[in-house]
Amino acid sequence: MSDVLLAIETSCDETSAAVIDRSLTILSNVVASQNELHERFGGVVPEIASRAHVRRIVPVIDEALESAGFGMADLAAIAAVTEPGLVGSLLVGLTAAKTLAAVWEKPLVAVNHLEAHLYACRMAAGRDVFPAVGFVVSGGHSNLYDCVGPSEFRPLGGTIDDAAGEAFDKVAQILGLPYPGGPSIQKAAEDGDPKAVALPRPMLNSSRLAFSFSGLKTALLYEVRGIPGSGSVPPPLTPQRVADLAASFQAAAVDVLVAKCRQALKETGRKRLLIGGGVAANAVFRSQVAATCDRSQTELVLAPPSLCTDNAAMAGLAWEHVAAGRFASLECDVMPGLVRI
Ligand code: KG4
Ligand code: ZN
Repeated sequence: MSDVLLAIETSCDETSAAVIDRSLTILSNVVASQNELHERFGGVVPEIASRAHVRRIVPVIDEALESAGFGMADLAAIAAVTEPGLVGSLLVGLTAAKTLAAVWEKPLVAVNHLEAHLYACRMAAGRDVFPAVGFVVSGGHSNLYDCVGPSEFRPLGGTIDDAAGEAFDKVAQILGLPYPGGPSIQKAAEDGDPKAVALPRPMLNSSRLAFSFSGLKTALLYEVRGIPGSGSVPPPLTPQRVADLAASFQAAAVDVLVAKCRQALKETGRKRLLIGGGVAANAVFRSQVAATCDRSQTELVLAPPSLCTDNAAMAGLAWEHVAAGRFASLECDVMPGLVRI
C-alpha cells in the first residue's frame, strides 16, 4: 500500500482537499472558502453552498494532488467527511470520493467531521495526544468529549441551543459587522472595553456540562435595540459602542467556554485538553484557556488557526481508520444529522 491518501471535506461551506502521508505530514491542504457567497445573507445558505461545492470540487482536488506532487494512482485510499453537516454539501464530497474510489479502485474511508476537528490537534502536535478531554467549538457545535483514544470519542455534553460560532455570527449581524462573525467580532473587540456592558454568562454555574448561547445573544440584541415594550432608548450604535458590545460579548462567551473546559477536565480527571473548530481560532479564548491550563498543570493542545476552521487535512484521521481496517462501502451514505448528544 502506498503512503499517501487524499481527504475531501465539504461538510459546510468550505470546499477542501488534502494529501496526507502515513506519518500524518500534511503535503497539501487546499481550502476554497465560500464566505463571499454567503456574506450578504449573514450565514450559510445550504443550496448556494452545495452548488458552489459542485463547481469547485474537481479543481480543488486537482490542486491538492498537484501541489503535493502525487497522482490518483499513487493513493492508498480516498477519504471523505460524511457526517455531520449540510446534506447537499456532504453529498458533493462523498460523491466525488466514491467516483474516484470506483474508477481508480481505491479503498474509501468515511470520516466524522467533529472527530476530525479534534484530530487536527493530533496532526498539529505530531505525536500521540490521547487520552484527553476534547472540545469542538465551531459554527455548528460546542461539544465536549472524553477522548479515550484516537478513534474513541465519548460525548460529555454540548449546547442546548445555539453553537458558540453561531452566536458570534448572529451577534456580528446585529452589530452590523461582516460575516463570518467570529473574526469580525474579535477585530472590533480590540478597540472595546470587555467590561463596558454587563452581559449574562449562561450556564456558567450549572453543574451540567452544557452550553446555552441564545440568552446571551438576546441580551445583546436588547442592548442594541432596547427592551421591547419598555420604552427605553438604547445608546446610538457608534463605532465605539460597537467595539464595546463586541468586546463584552466576546468576554462573556469566552468565560463560559473556558469554565466548561475546566469543569470537563475536573469531572474526567484528564490532564490534557484538545481544542479544535473555528471558534478555537479566537485569540482571547486561546490566551484564556492557556492560562487556565497553566494553572491546573494541564497540557493544552490547540489546533493552529489554519487547522481550526474547516479544512481537509484534519481528516488525516482517516489513517487511523485505514490502520484499523475500517473502510466504507461504495453504498455508504452521508449522515447530516446533528451529533449524538
Ligand atoms: O469549524 P468551522 O470552520 O465550521 C463549522 O464546522 O462550523 O467554524 C466556523 C465558525 C464560524 O461561526 C466563525 O464565526 C467562527 O467559527 N470563527 C471564530 C473565529 N474564526 C472563526 N469565532 C470566534 N473568533 C474567531 N477568530
Ligand atoms: Zn467544522
